[in-house]
This record gives sequence, C-alpha cells and structure tokens, in this order.
Amino acid sequence: MSKSAIKLDSNTITIENYMSKSLYAQYAEEREGVETIEESWGFATFKRLPDHIYLQDVYIIPSMRGQSKGTQLTDAVIKIGKEAGYTRMTTSVVPSTPGSTETILKMIHLNFKLFSSQSDIVYLIREI
Ligand SMILES: CC(C)(COP(=O)(O)OP(=O)(O)OC[C@H]1O[C@@H](n2cnc3c(N)ncnc32)[C@H](O)[C@@H]1OP(=O)(O)O)[C@@H](O)C(=O)NCCC(=O)NCCS
Repeated sequence: MSKSAIKLDSNTITIENYMSKSLYAQYAEEREGVETIEESWGFATFKRLPDHIYLQDVYIIPSMRGQSKGTQLTDAVIKIGKEAGYTRMTTSVVPSTPGSTETILKMIHLNFKLFSSQSDIVYLIREI
C-alpha cells in the first residue's frame, strides 16, 4: 500500500490511522453513518449530511489539550469535507455539559458562527 497522508501544516494525520479504525468506530459507521478519525491522543467524529458535513465530537486526552490538537482534527475533517465537495460544516454543543462555554469559545475562535439555539443544543456553522 502506498503511504498517503492528510497533510496539516507541520503535522500529519496518516491515512493508515484513518483506515484502521477501532471496533467502536466501525460500529458507529455501520449503525449511524458516523465516521471517525482516530489518533493515539484523540479522535474526531463526523457525518456526511445532504448539504453540509457535521462535526459530531472532538476529544483530546487531557494531557495533550491546549496544543492545537483539537484544531488539527477539526482541520482534518474540513479537508475531508472539502474534498467531498461540501462548502459548509456544522457542529453542536450541549450547554448543560461540562466545559460547554469553553468549547463554544474555541469553536468561535475556529470561525464557527451561531446558527441556532434550541432544546439545550447550540448549533454552530462555518464555511469551509
Ligand atoms: C474541546 C477540545 C477538543 C479542544 O481540544 P484542544 O486540543 O485542547 O484545543 P486546541 O488547543 O486546538 O484549541 C482550539 C483553539 O481554540 C483556542 N482557544 C482555547 N481556549 C479559548 C478560549 N477560551 N477562547 C477563545 N479561543 C480559545 C485555542 O487558542 C486554539 O486556537 P489556535 O489553534 O488558533 O491556537 C478538548 O478540550 C477536549 O477534548 N475536551 C473534552 C471533550 C469536549 O468537550 N469536546 C467538545 C465537544 S464535542
């Protein structure tokens, strides 16, 4: 197999990592159409919807936070979305979950804008 990779500035997320998924990632994809990018230090999940790509979850292990890893995984999903022809990405945050204010501030920093707020879910959107 040729070595291909998603290039992200100085960082690289390997296609091999993207292809060799955990059992849970395989389950989520088969059951819900949720795709996963997994690294040893974190993961991002996303879903291809009809008119936008939805960033479902980003998780970075506590010891690796604040080092732009979350940004790196978000950029990887953006790259996949662009290559698939999407022009918009959405995400959502549940205000009642721990750290939700910090998460929303980070998403705004990453150019997301408020789309709607309803039933304890804040939806955010950005062009990609
Ligand atoms: C949310 C989470 C994924 C962020 O990951 P991280 O690697 O620590 O985030 P980053 O270091 O990439 O920071 C993201 C950006 O937000 C910026 N940022 C951080 N705190 C900020 C704040 N209070 N206000 C505005 N911007 C902020 C950072 O500077 C960074 O931008 P940069 O890359 O241009 O420097 C991580 O904290 C986590 O896994 N939390 C637990 C799970 C969770 O809550 N996930 C989100 C909901 S699905």
